[in-house]
This record gives sequence, C-alpha cells and structure tokens, in this order.
Amino acid sequence: MNLVVLTGAGISAESGLATFRDLGGTWSQVRLEEVATPEAFLADPARVQAFYDARRAQLRRVAPNPAHEALARLERAWTRGDFLLVTQNVDDLHERAGSRRLLHMHGELRSARCLACGADSPWDEDIRPESACTACGTAGRLRPHVVWFGEMPLYMEAIEVALSRCALFVSIGTSGQVWPAAGFVRMIPRDARSVEINPERSQMADAFAEHRRGPASVEVPRLVAELLA
Ligand code: OAD
Repeated sequence: MNLVVLTGAGISAESGLATFRDLGGTWSQVRLEEVATPEAFLADPARVQAFYDARRAQLRRVAPNPAHEALARLERAWTRGDFLLVTQNVDDLHERAGSRRLLHMHGELRSARCLACGADSPWDEDIRPESACTACGTAGRLRPHVVWFGEMPLYMEAIEVALSRCALFVSIGTSGQVWPAAGFVRMIPRDARSVEINPERSQMADAFAEHRRGPASVEVPRLVAELLA
C-alpha cells in the first residue's frame, strides 16, 4: 500500500511556528505581497531578506513535535509499499525528526539560491548584500530558496506520480487554500483512502473521506500507531 502524506503549517504550530491564515497568523502580521512575491524582492530586497532571515533564525529556537516524530517513525517502519512525505513547509522540522523521503515543494529556509548560476546551497546564516554563492562565488545575488506566489512549486512531476499510485493520502495541518497542494486530494486514485487531520474544517474538507478533528501532535501519532499495528 503506497502512502503519500502532505503537511502544512499546522503540523509545526505546536512547535511554536506561526501558521499563515489562522487568527494572528503570519499573513495577518505582514502583507504577503510585500514579502512573498518576486515583485516584492525586486522592489525591496532588504525587506524580503530580513523577513526570511528572521524565520531562518527562529528555526534554532524550535524543535520537532510528536507529529513530526510519528511521520519519521512511519517512514522507517513502512514496508508494505512506497512512502512519500510532501511538505509545503519551509522549516526543517521534518528532517530534524528523521524524515528522509521528503520533498519540500515550497523550498527550504535553510537554503539559498544563486540568481547568477542557479545553484541552491545549504545556508544557515542571514543572507547579506555581500554574501557570496558557495558554488560560483558571485556575491550579492543570493535569494532565499523558497517558492514565492507566482512561482512554480518544486518537484511537481514526482509528486503527481506518487499521488497517482497511492492507496492512502493523508493531509495534515493545511488550510487547502493554496494550489496546487489544495488539489492533491483530487489527484489520487478513485479507490484510495483519504484522511484529513486538522482541528478545523479546511477549504478542501469535502474532498476527504475521513476527518480527524484534533491537533496534529495527538492525531498523527494515533493514525501512525493504527497504520503500524
Ligand atoms: P495555513 O496557515 O493556510 O493553514 C494552517 C492550517 O493548520 C489551518 O487549516 C489550521 O486549522 C491548521 N492547524 C492549526 N493548528 C494545528 C494543529 N495543532 N494541528 C493540525 N492542524 C493545525 O497554512 P498552509 O495551508 O500550510 O506558502 O499554507 C499553505 C501555504 O500558504 C504555505 O506553504 C505558504 C503560505 O502562504 C508560501 O509561502 C508559498
């Protein structure tokens, strides 16, 4: 039985990282048009870099929670088929919990992309105006390796193949408001099982056969225990 798991900001909420669209979420504090579009970066690169620098620095103050840990456990123990974890999150909590078969479709905070040579490389510090690309050495052309609104999400081909072959699709902590991830549940085979884990009804809730209404830190370990029983 092939599994595909999709995660969103809700899985990291209990680790202390704000979601985007909940009350008090990131997009109520800062306008996404000012920090999360290519146009914003052209208009005010320092502002955009500062936004992502702060979020990158915040990663040092948070840790994976039982939901991240349960998914890593599931990946390690799953021998009945393929396993793929797709995350919309740019944090590194899945890999720190031990996940390896993981695709960051919206990129990663701890990575910088060079606009001169196109390479992306691990990046743990602030991206400064004088920062140089570790691949080509060009200074001043680095941007966060995150997908902005208006840009193509990453790894879509591999994700679509995995979705088309899965027997179970689990969506955790995502509002179902951002595409293409919102549409993944409609791309699985007709007879596949679909489970949504979210304390609230997401915008895509009607497309799921099963709903588990509760926090990820409780509901994910519970589902994983059932799958491994
Ligand atoms: P949202 O902020 O849109 O949605 C977060 C979801 O998590 C909501 O449906 C909450 O109900 C749910 N949630 C909150 N606490 C939870 C908990 N403890 N356990 C489980 N669920 C919980 O975040 P995303 O759907 O991830 O993109 O947003 C998708 C994309 O929009 C992000 O990747 C980002 C953003 O703009 C880019 O920046 C490109």
